[in-house]
Amino acid sequence: MAQQEDNLLKKIISHAKEYGFIFPSSEIYDGLSAVYDYGQNGVELKNNIKEYWWKFMTTLHDNIVGIDAAIFMHPTTWKASGHVDAFNDPMVDNRDSKKRYRADQLIEGYVEKQEEKIEKEVEKAAKRFGETFNRELFLTTNPRVTEIRKKAEEANARLKEAMGSGDMQALRQLLDDLEIACPVSGTRNWTEVRQFNLMFSTEMGSVADDASKIYLRPETAQGIFVNYLNVQKTGRMKLPFGIAQIGKAFRNEIVARQFIFRMREFEQMEMQFFIRPGEEMKWYEHWKEKRMRWHQALGLGTDNHRFHDHLNLAHYANAACDIQFNFPMGFRELEGIHSRTDFDLGNHEKFSGKKIQYFDPETNQGYVPYVVETSIGLDRMFLAVLSNAYQEEALASKEGEEGNERVVLRIPAPLAPFKVAVLPLIKKDGLPEKAQEIINLLRFDFRCYYEEKDAIGKRYRRMDAIGTPYCITVDHQTLTDGTVTLRDRDSMQQQRMAIEALPDFLRGHCSISNLLRKL
Ligand code: GAP
Repeated sequence: MAQQEDNLLKKIISHAKEYGFIFPSSEIYDGLSAVYDYGQNGVELKNNIKEYWWKFMTTLHDNIVGIDAAIFMHPTTWKASGHVDAFNDPMVDNRDSKKRYRADQLIEGYVEKQEEKIEKEVEKAAKRFGETFNRELFLTTNPRVTEIRKKAEEANARLKEAMGSGDMQALRQLLDDLEIACPVSGTRNWTEVRQFNLMFSTEMGSVADDASKIYLRPETAQGIFVNYLNVQKTGRMKLPFGIAQIGKAFRNEIVARQFIFRMREFEQMEMQFFIRPGEEMKWYEHWKEKRMRWHQALGLGTDNHRFHDHLNLAHYANAACDIQFNFPMGFRELEGIHSRTDFDLGNHEKFSGKKIQYFDPETNQGYVPYVVETSIGLDRMFLAVLSNAYQEEALASKEGEEGNERVVLRIPAPLAPFKVAVLPLIKKDGLPEKAQEIINLLRFDFRCYYEEKDAIGKRYRRMDAIGTPYCITVDHQTLTDGTVTLRDRDSMQQQRMAIEALPDFLRGHCSISNLLRKL
């Protein structure tokens, strides 16, 4: 990660802690690696993201229902899903730095670097040739570019082959052949590559034998698959239909860095869409487009999202892509969209001995449905919103009296922890009482903040720092004409508004329902 991006992430981490968004877990004991707690403002933002996702997926789709399955599941679930045998990452240590890495990520990093090299060559040539430059022609004919591309493609093909066959020696050989060095020590003094299963296990009951070994779920999806029949029958669901769920997942990640981007305990928002076999590509495209629309409606910047097709498909998928977001450390996976065929239901049928089929009244046939899944990490979405919102600004206006700089979180208003702060200009003359009246008018629909301490400019700064989109100031004029000052977080513009107009104004600008209406 470049120095500048690293600094930005560090600033976001410290801001998130200072303003009650995210704390390291059990901090008084020096924290627990890659585990975090959400504070008083963080939980509000997180709940708002959940609501936005849940309402979009369920309320706006008649054919999608939700469930909340248990974290513990019968251990055979994880045999059937392939997680016991195949949910492994290849682990390698550098003997000099003592740092641990995922061998596949080191190799992917090498491939990405080759792509960057190609882009640099393209930029140089575009400058040299000016308007006559033909990108496609250059990419296919320039000897240096074709050489770099060949190296990248060979590395990728060998990676795919080694990962597919679980050949750890081949991965180790690839590290040597590509002369990949440890980013910390700069040496190539690697240990052997070993498989590492990412599932956390524990024991259920008091008898510690193998039969009682259970796992903390590494994905929420399996809770949906094992409930497919229950929901389909009790909900009288007809294909195509979906089941959505939000819940915790656990992975003993080898490399857990970059704050809440990769955690060992995290939350997923997943939806499995059950369809007729053969229709998967249509639904795959459908959900790609819909999920992208959901992201873009938040206004985090149209250029900050992109699709990234998986080159190396998981064993169960026949098509897969990520929606990547431009995080402080660059474009990274935010959400996955996967066409999972009938792999999961088919295997649960096999391992449980129960028939998991759908009788299609239109074709008069029974079959195991196919599945297209959308899977987004709630914490990653939180990081996307938070990192996009964080801005340091110089102040030119009179608000600069309280310092000539502000840190503002430009969180999309419907997701902001507090929608409005109500601030009496001074602590006497009946202004606090009037402010409380206004809070009582608004609090049933909007999370409100009350604050009477310090100068008004300082209070605005505090609200900017937690992303409150509007501040209402109650002054002496309020007592005579029933109007307040409404101050906008982003423009810092102020306007006078009648108290009765506030609920409609806030509903128009801050409600999740209104955001959903735009979709
Ligand atoms: N059911 C499919 C599945 O779990 P995945 O790509 O492994 O697919 C889906 O995970 C999403 O969950 C990712 O796109 C990411 O947003 C989130 N995620 C995965 N591992 C994570 C971790 N260790 N920490 C935070 N989020 C994670």
